[in-house]
Amino acid sequence: QKGGYPHFMLKEIYEQPDALDRTIRPRVSDGLPFLEEDGISDSLFDGIKNITVVACGTAMHAGMVGKYVFESKLRIPVNVEIASEFRYKDPIIDKNTLTIVLSQSGETIDTLEALRLAKKKGSPVLSIVNVKGSTIARESDYVLYTHAGPEIAVASTKAYTVQISAMYLIACRYGLVKGIISEDEAREFIKNLENVRSIIEDTLKNANTIKMVANRIMISPDVFYIGRGIDYTLCLEASLKLKEISYIHSEAYAAGELKHGTIALISENVPVIAIATEKDVYSKVISNVKEVKSRGAFVILVSHDDDINDTSVCDMQIKLPEADSVFSVFATAVVLQLIAYYTSDAKGLDVDKPRNLAKSVTVE
Ligand code: M6R
Repeated sequence: QKGGYPHFMLKEIYEQPDALDRTIRPRVSDGLPFLEEDGISDSLFDGIKNITVVACGTAMHAGMVGKYVFESKLRIPVNVEIASEFRYKDPIIDKNTLTIVLSQSGETIDTLEALRLAKKKGSPVLSIVNVKGSTIARESDYVLYTHAGPEIAVASTKAYTVQISAMYLIACRYGLVKGIISEDEAREFIKNLENVRSIIEDTLKNANTIKMVANRIMISPDVFYIGRGIDYTLCLEASLKLKEISYIHSEAYAAGELKHGTIALISENVPVIAIATEKDVYSKVISNVKEVKSRGAFVILVSHDDDINDTSVCDMQIKLPEADSVFSVFATAVVLQLIAYYTSDAKGLDVDKPRNLAKSVTVE
């Protein structure tokens, strides 16, 4: 069942190139995104002025990546809400808000109740779900299934990256239909999206360096993740993954926030994993990295092939294949999943079934 892998989680990490192909390719025709066969006609986007994403945990973090793309590429405002918060307030949504619901299992109770509330408010609901025929899929107005295949490990990996790819397909179709992006731009976007398969395959070749990082952080009681922009959303997911399966306390911070309190926690030898894939803010992240380094942090830098080789900046580096940050999120995600995986495994923990957690949270 584990296909020769020691754990489901590792198997599922390695399945990501195929899972992404299965989710993306059926929705691409002549280089452009098409969602008609999923029953999602372009008329869904008529009158839509903004988007609200509701989800929990890792699925919510995938929504945050999607927000970044909708806002930066299309200038469409997106609100990402934690489902368990959304459902107990009076959310400001109506028929002009498209609610996108993200759920691997399609059974998470808070997400389901958030969906019901959105419908009651007149907002059309499009859900991105992995499990066919699940309650969330059945109750939604529109469903875009991810085709990740069964995810057995409690820690979500392949479901996260396919959810991101589904958000990208919707964003690209939306941009095209609304005339915000041209056909050429949409083709270029889709070409890059289809290419993430090979970016991930290249990244998986770094497994040995990643194992060395895991061996270093497994002895630490605390780990910090820092990044800016889209990389910050990856930090949130990385921190959740590490806590969930390695039981190491960790925090994710927007790198520019360090000075507003957190830097007080940086002490001698504490691991700081810095993600720097965005060109526009690269130098800003590097200067934040130097700030923590000068306070004694052990810095692991995850970035593109820029020639760092400078011990005043980092102690270890994991290099990502060159790509626009919007597409390198997939490679970054794989690196961060593997760090969590190897850390948990090195500590001899039950990787696939961490304590106190269930795969599907169907109780409140
Ligand atoms: O099935 P769902 O996607 O609705 O589950 C939501 C969260 O419970 C889930 O993503 C959880 O955070 C992950 N197991 C974390 O790895």
